[in-house]
Amino acid sequence: MTSTTPLPQHSRDTESVAGHWLLARVGKKVLRPGGRELSEWLVAAAPVTGRRVVEFAPGLGLTARLLLDRDPASYTGVDADPEAVEVTRAAVGEGAALVVATAQETGLPAASADVVLGEAMLTMQGESTKAQIVAEAHRVLDAGGRYLVHELCLVPDELDDEVKTEIRRDLAKSIRVNARPLTVAEWRDLFASAGFEVEEVELRPMALLGPRRMIADEGLGGVARIVRNLVRDADARRRVLAMRATFRRHDEALSAVGFVLRKRG
Ligand SMILES: C[S@@+](CC[C@H](N)C(=O)[O-])C[C@H]1O[C@@H](n2cnc3c(N)ncnc32)[C@H](O)[C@@H]1O
Repeated sequence: MTSTTPLPQHSRDTESVAGHWLLARVGKKVLRPGGRELSEWLVAAAPVTGRRVVEFAPGLGLTARLLLDRDPASYTGVDADPEAVEVTRAAVGEGAALVVATAQETGLPAASADVVLGEAMLTMQGESTKAQIVAEAHRVLDAGGRYLVHELCLVPDELDDEVKTEIRRDLAKSIRVNARPLTVAEWRDLFASAGFEVEEVELRPMALLGPRRMIADEGLGGVARIVRNLVRDADARRRVLAMRATFRRHDEALSAVGFVLRKRG
């Protein structure tokens, strides 16, 4: 990203900005729960070379880069936030078509993609928008196409409803986004009712702010830069530490999940 491209929500104060954009402000590049390694797993799980690829919510462009490196026939990124689209444009440059539209109504033609990928963008939607986005992925995909999903999930499937509500409330309070992660069984139901067959499911620890994952995702230099920024900014530090405490408190019930889904027919 060029330093002149403002991040989404740049005019919001540290207290109210969404957690992922706060992390981006302090220099974090990887904003998805399973980290770079789950994105790499996902991109390798479906044929991309020579295929038509659509990404929902490409954000800082990290997965867009992974996809473009595999020489797809085309790449189209779709984000509802015009500033997020500018950030992606600055990260990936030419060779990527970028559209400002919601993932539930992309405006893309039916059956125009072989691969649709979306990371860290479904969890933050309410029940009906989740279903609309999954239905849109299904509409945009050609028969047999793959929908690759990387999100947060709750474990085990039998998790008590009260615990689910408490986790959702704590996440909303600390990351200032209405995060509503589902259990693996609930995610499966959502995808199956839209006409997808689940080909693969991959669970990885939700360790977004864990030291080992931070080094794997950001490199030692990246971690040093983030730490420096947090040392200088007490408000950002307080919020990031509160987010980390929330993730730690619910560590046993939170996981990252990757799904490889195939459009039936
Ligand atoms: C947490 S960021 C994730 C960005 C990127 N996928 C990543 O993993 O780094 C969430 C992104 O989803 C976008 N978004 C949220 N709801 C959306 C929707 N309904 N349609 C399209 N984009 C959406 C936001 O604008 C934001 O850029």
